[in-house]
Amino acid sequence: MQTTVDRAGLGRLISAAGGSADGITAVIDDLGADAVAATVVGELLHRADVPAGPDVAVQVGLRHGDATIRYGLQVGSTGVAHLPSGAGEPVGTPDASLTQDLTEVVRSLFGPRGAQSSASRVVHWGHLEDPSAFDRPLPAYDVVRRLVDALDRPYDIGLAELCVRYGSDKWGHHTYPRRYEQHFGPLRDQPLTILEIGVGGFGDQHRGGASLEVWRRYFPRALVYGLDIVDKSHLTDQRVTVLQGDQSSPTDLARVVEVMGRPDIVIDDGSHVSAHLLASFASLFPVLRHGGLYVMEDLQTSYWPTFGGRAGTYDDPATSLGFLKTLVDGLHHEEIVGRTPAFTDPDIGGVHFYHNLAFVEKERNLDGGAPSWIPRGVRQRAGVPD
Ligand SMILES: C[S@@+](CC[C@H](N)C(=O)[O-])C[C@H]1O[C@@H](n2cnc3c(N)ncnc32)[C@H](O)[C@@H]1O
Repeated sequence: MQTTVDRAGLGRLISAAGGSADGITAVIDDLGADAVAATVVGELLHRADVPAGPDVAVQVGLRHGDATIRYGLQVGSTGVAHLPSGAGEPVGTPDASLTQDLTEVVRSLFGPRGAQSSASRVVHWGHLEDPSAFDRPLPAYDVVRRLVDALDRPYDIGLAELCVRYGSDKWGHHTYPRRYEQHFGPLRDQPLTILEIGVGGFGDQHRGGASLEVWRRYFPRALVYGLDIVDKSHLTDQRVTVLQGDQSSPTDLARVVEVMGRPDIVIDDGSHVSAHLLASFASLFPVLRHGGLYVMEDLQTSYWPTFGGRAGTYDDPATSLGFLKTLVDGLHHEEIVGRTPAFTDPDIGGVHFYHNLAFVEKERNLDGGAPSWIPRGVRQRAGVPD
């Protein structure tokens, strides 16, 4: 495996992909074309989802300046492998070759909606001189079709389909994708930092990561971070970083923020223990970027004492839903006479409740209340009825 660019380099590449071709080329030169090509091929293969099948050899050529960096992709009964061949002559006789400018490939994979282009692409088929190739589709057709779709249509796949593909229970057992798409759809082509608490697989170190793959794929320009109390760091890969820590520990969360920077989206799908949800929110909401979203899943546990919830009362602010309900009052903090300020008050832009799921929007909430001359029916200073 050739060296890929590191996380900071990937962030730069993603940002550049939203700008001019010259800007992308300059960043490629700075990071090293070979490392960028290795990164791009890894991303391309991840998105292409090429299944195991008959033997097919495809050569991917990435043109940069005078050089073409070539990779051999070998599909077979065990899946797909890529064999770096470096700049130089092709390896063997491929069933197909796909050659495109590296700058254009970077922009297609990591650029916003509408930035995709195939203007520099050349596709050659290896066996068209064999008349039998016209009787049936060549196995190479589907492989190249998948690569081309990954480049040309990075935003064409839906969240429910991704959850089924990667095995996240967000779809099926739950029906969250419709709500996620409602809130995440407008952000989908932004260069985001996303943290999900709860990687999945619980005590089994070798299981989990389904939803991190979902987010990586749904947000083609995002850097995705996962936090789990169990060490699942082996799931770390190009755009996904998996950290170990306890979501109820402010120290662990501070370490996560140190590595990740300020997130644009936080999704809490961890222990579902109310006190843990509240502790994570207290540490992470203040560092969430304005315009960002904080999501809590599986809020039914707020009613279940085994998860630190309350069975008989619904407004206890020590439970997850009881706490979230207090944010509705926080939205109106400037209208409430004599309110004891909550740390969230200046930053609550909206709270959206769905079955077992809530989204909190972070926005400046300091526009001022209604004019002071409107009688409130309470004494402004004492906070008691007139
Ligand atoms: C429901 S699974 C996450 C599923 C995953 N988000 C998905 O959709 O594919 C919950 C995960 O939270 C982790 N977890 C439990 N307690 C935690 C804690 N205190 N801090 C961090 N992670 C925790 C568990 O190890 C488990 O892997």
